[in-house]
Amino acid sequence: MNYEILQIEIKEEIAIITINRPKALNALNTRFFNEMDEAIESISKNKNIRVLIITGEGKAFVAGADIAEMVNMTPEQGTAFSKKGQNTFNSIENLRIPVIGAINGFALGGGLELAMACDFRIASSKAKFGQPEVNLGMIPGYAGTQRLTRLVGPADALYLLTTAELIKADDALRIGLIQKIVEPEELIEEVIKIAQIIASKGPKAIEKVKYVTRKGLNMDFEKACDLEADYFGTQFKDEGEEGMRAFLEKRKPEWKENY
Ligand code: CAA
Repeated sequence: MNYEILQIEIKEEIAIITINRPKALNALNTRFFNEMDEAIESISKNKNIRVLIITGEGKAFVAGADIAEMVNMTPEQGTAFSKKGQNTFNSIENLRIPVIGAINGFALGGGLELAMACDFRIASSKAKFGQPEVNLGMIPGYAGTQRLTRLVGPADALYLLTTAELIKADDALRIGLIQKIVEPEELIEEVIKIAQIIASKGPKAIEKVKYVTRKGLNMDFEKACDLEADYFGTQFKDEGEEGMRAFLEKRKPEWKENY
């Protein structure tokens, strides 16, 4: 596919997707979703990539779904547009590797929903967050009602969902919506550093810790603990033997490549 909206850069073990439609504040249209599906598919097949970073070009991360595309939709088209976005964001969340949102500016509506499909978020001090759909007489359609509630709890979620207030990075940090705030000019550098730390760990340990954590969220607690114990066990042969021996021998572990 010829990418028009996404820029994809691969720097050693780290992939960076930049949403580059700054004139429309990176608003999400059908073309974006088609490109993102293709990008996620190709990243998921590339076993050398250990971390994905998603960011935006210009003053917005993403200012929401494309209102100009949505304005004439019928209810049926609206539901299909919602499902398409939900599927794309689920495939981001379900990637085997960690995904970091580098939130450079406005993360509103579908933009916050995209940010929340990432495993965690590092934000510029200039970023702003909100679910302003009710201003348009709409509600979130890319799982915002569900991911926001799971991330910050029902009270803070419903505060944002019903008031449409845009909050600054320090309030987003306070409610647990983001994990760290950095100066705007240091954002990408800082997120790459975090990605490099993750990429230095055992590849299988990182994949499994993400899988068990995410999968367990939708499971009964005891079953989730069983899943954890199974994966803990398999990790002894996969990487644990090397990692624990390296610790005891006071050397750096050498992880197997190419599983
Ligand atoms: N869709 C389409 N175009 C958008 C857009 C969006 N979500 N957000 C911004 N734009 C466009 C503007 O129309 C404008 O285009 P023109 O230059 O052609 O007029 C351009 O981007 C720049 O925007 P502004 O001039 O408005 O920039 P600003 O700095 O004055 O304001 C803003 C920034 C506060 C983010 C404002 O643009 C805004 O409120 N945007 C809409 C935010 C929103 O409501 N998002 C939710 C969308 S609905 C949704 O996402 C549903 C869902 O969950 C599936």
